[in-house]
Amino acid sequence: MQLLHSILSLALLLGSSTATKYAAQELYRFPPGSWLENIAVRPCGSILVTMLIPNASLYEINPFAHTKRPSVKLVHTFPNSTGVVGIAETTPDTFYVATSNISLANLDGPPPLNKIWRVAYPGPKIELVSEVKSAKLINGLAALNARTILAADSSAGTVIAIDTASGSYRTVIADPLMAPVPALGTVGVNGIKVRGNELYFTNTALSLLARIPIHADGTPAGKVVNDSSSADVPPAGKAQYDDFILDRTGRLAFAATGGGNAVQRIDLDNGETDIVAGNVNQTTLAEPTAVAFGRTAADAGVLYVTTAGGVRIPVYVDGKPTPPGGIGGQLVALSTRGWAPFGAVP
Ligand SMILES: *[C@@H]1O[C@H](CO)[C@@H](O)[C@H](O)[C@H]1NC(C)=O
Ligand SMILES: *[C@@H]1O[C@H](CO)[C@@H](O)[C@H](O)[C@H]1NC(C)=O
Ligand SMILES: *[C@@H]1O[C@H](CO)[C@@H](O)[C@H](O)[C@H]1NC(C)=O
Ligand SMILES: *[C@@H]1O[C@H](CO)[C@@H](O)[C@H](O)[C@H]1NC(C)=O
Ligand SMILES: *[C@@H]1O[C@H](CO)[C@@H](O)[C@H](O)[C@H]1NC(C)=O
Repeated sequence: MQLLHSILSLALLLGSSTATKYAAQELYRFPPGSWLENIAVRPCGSILVTMLIPNASLYEINPFAHTKRPSVKLVHTFPNSTGVVGIAETTPDTFYVATSNISLANLDGPPPLNKIWRVAYPGPKIELVSEVKSAKLINGLAALNARTILAADSSAGTVIAIDTASGSYRTVIADPLMAPVPALGTVGVNGIKVRGNELYFTNTALSLLARIPIHADGTPAGKVVNDSSSADVPPAGKAQYDDFILDRTGRLAFAATGGGNAVQRIDLDNGETDIVAGNVNQTTLAEPTAVAFGRTAADAGVLYVTTAGGVRIPVYVDGKPTPPGGIGGQLVALSTRGWAPFGAVP
């Protein structure tokens, strides 16, 4: 709890001179050159983060360690893959991750091979589930049900359903609003989340957060509804959505904007959007990639954010870019409930 206590202390120091509403505390930073891509929280509260650069690793970070620093543990480095992308949980403590052998230095090279792995606790026991040969570039994952996961193919502009028991897969959605737009970016559909009978998604190239009604098998049951644009927030400018999370009520979304170095909050009832953490000119959230809520009573109001550390898009602080290779992938905690998000302060 010491760590959470220091989040509170920091919150008091931050004051309100900026537009930032949520206090931020960096919990852990990997070495320069590293890029964290996605995040999931285990039921016990421990945080799983996926590494895209420099190697295909999955790490577990326990924010409740009884030390000044959270404990960090390598869970697994996936063979014959260059990076880990999405992660999703189907049943409690059973996760699926996507890996790829993408060469970020040669995006025009041969299409990468995308694989899906099961990471099941206790253990965890790690098994290859599927080689999704039809996919161009799998990115975000979401659970459709206890047995099926959905995968966003950012290059193809599609969603693929993967049966985790048999490893079989098929494309269930192909929509122009999921496709990349060459003039705007090579990454189309990115984060995906299932809520009720809707699939929410971001399209990075289009700066779009949207949803589409789906059938039980993941196929579309209606048209895409545009919820918001990451570029509509005045200081955000050209910031583009990466991955996102829905809150418990499903009325709010929180999205990472890589180029904006911020987290945006979107009111899904009216599309109103504002920046709740980070600043384009600060490394507090250096190129954020994904967000997840805490799952224990102590951190239910905490939003955890992973970052790419400014590897791809440098952060300009006082007009100077962060060095090549960036500052290192971060795990940052944001307190969404004001100054006392954790209940009684010890
Ligand atoms: C993967 O990268 C991390 C971060 O730089 C590093 O600490 C770790 O040793 C690397 N693992 C392997 C297997 O190279
Ligand atoms: C990795 O690739 C090499 C060369 O293609 C192959 O021999 C090896 O079996 C692969 N390992 C795994 C765990 O897939
Ligand atoms: C990824 O693996 C596939 C299948 O083994 C191979 O054809 C492709 O060249 C590899 N891509 C890279 C960038 O290594
Ligand atoms: C989605 O809606 C927002 C807000 O109305 C708008 O700015 C944006 O251009 C729309 N995006 C697309 C791709 O239609
Ligand atoms: C970021 O810095 C640039 C250049 O110094 C400045 O023009 C811009 O207003 C700053 N943006 C914010 C949101 O502080």
